Amino acid sequence: MLNQRSRFATVPALANSFAACITDRKKPGTIGLTEKTTKPLLEVLGGRRLEIPPIWMMRQAGRYLPEYRQTRTKAGGFLDLCFTPELAAEVTLQPIRRFGFDAAIIFSDILVIPHALGCEVRFEAGEGPRLDPLDTAAKITALAAHADFRKLEPVYEALGRVRRELADHVALIGFCGAPWTIATYMVAGQGTTDQAPARMLAYRDPEALSHIVDVLVENSIEHLLGQLRAGADCVQIFDTWAGVLPPREFLRWSIAPTARIVEGVRAKIPDAKIIGFPRGAGALLPAYVGATKVDAVSIDWAAEPGLIRERVQSRVAVQGNLDPLALIAGGDALDRAIDDVLSNYAQGRLIFNLGHGILPETPIAHVEQMVRRVRDFRG
Ligand code: CP3
Repeated sequence: MLNQRSRFATVPALANSFAACITDRKKPGTIGLTEKTTKPLLEVLGGRRLEIPPIWMMRQAGRYLPEYRQTRTKAGGFLDLCFTPELAAEVTLQPIRRFGFDAAIIFSDILVIPHALGCEVRFEAGEGPRLDPLDTAAKITALAAHADFRKLEPVYEALGRVRRELADHVALIGFCGAPWTIATYMVAGQGTTDQAPARMLAYRDPEALSHIVDVLVENSIEHLLGQLRAGADCVQIFDTWAGVLPPREFLRWSIAPTARIVEGVRAKIPDAKIIGFPRGAGALLPAYVGATKVDAVSIDWAAEPGLIRERVQSRVAVQGNLDPLALIAGGDALDRAIDDVLSNYAQGRLIFNLGHGILPETPIAHVEQMVRRVRDFRG
């Protein structure tokens, strides 16, 4: 098991001034930096390049960890785990203890918003989420405008608990789903391979989809503000299904609602740090970054490095983008894939991550191999 502070063991070897600041801060009696500037992830979001990129993984708390599976069994249902602050905090901290990541992401789900809007959300073992589908105009009109935020209190309480236990240098990330991605699950009532039901609704009845998206925009702003006030250092907006949209539809259903969320959050917390993840956006990433004003963009493994460096990383930090299958494969193939990410992006602002969530069959030893290799890197 890797030591949580292992990144600091190598810090004296670094030449940049930031590293010197961290080292100083660890000397007793030194007047250190403010709380905020001791976190590598926030440094990168704030505009700095680090020689050792901060690292965390999407879905880092999950079934590939035996301690997660144990806590999950104890909780009963998946939503019971999300809504029991003590257990949600515990599973949030498990990957930090084991791997010493630079960020913890609060354990929750993007579907807690539809749940708080009164939709019935269930997680069937091995099948993914199930909701009562919004498949008639009447059901869409009847959608509540305001979520019952009392239902989300356990998420905020879990954030407070995690905050109190995290070391100073570990950032805490809150999140929500982007309206388009949440809407795809609400319309279909489940995940589908290409989210055809929501795409069809966008053509047949754009006003109806607009209504769902508007409700999600307003409630997502409140949910992100609630998480930032409860102790999150930054937030990520997951648009997992952005890539199934043609360009015109992408502007309307992915970019525009995300821009409204960013604006709405910053209207209340002007310096809020926000990461966007429009999975599959490809050549539309520069447009996404320009219009949404996110501080960083999480890129999937298919992103083209030249385009990303020239037209994305020149403006914002980049997070990603190891193929989760390389992490399962391990060995030399994994080393090569890690080195590709580093050689493609570590000369600019990089947060090392996967191109999408870690898969349940991933061996723990391969995650350890990845953390070691990234921490041994000097960009
Ligand atoms: O990253 C983290 O560790 C934080 C936790 C987190 C979960 N879901 C926990 C979870 C986050 C950030 C999410 C986001 C999420 N949820 C997304 C966007 C990101 C992505 O991965 O695409 C989406 C589309 C969902 C909806 C959702 N929740 C699906 C499709 C599933 C089933 C998939 C599966 O792996 O079974 C879930 C369930 C879910 N959410 C699990 C976890 C750990 C697995 C549930 C279990 O323990 O059985």
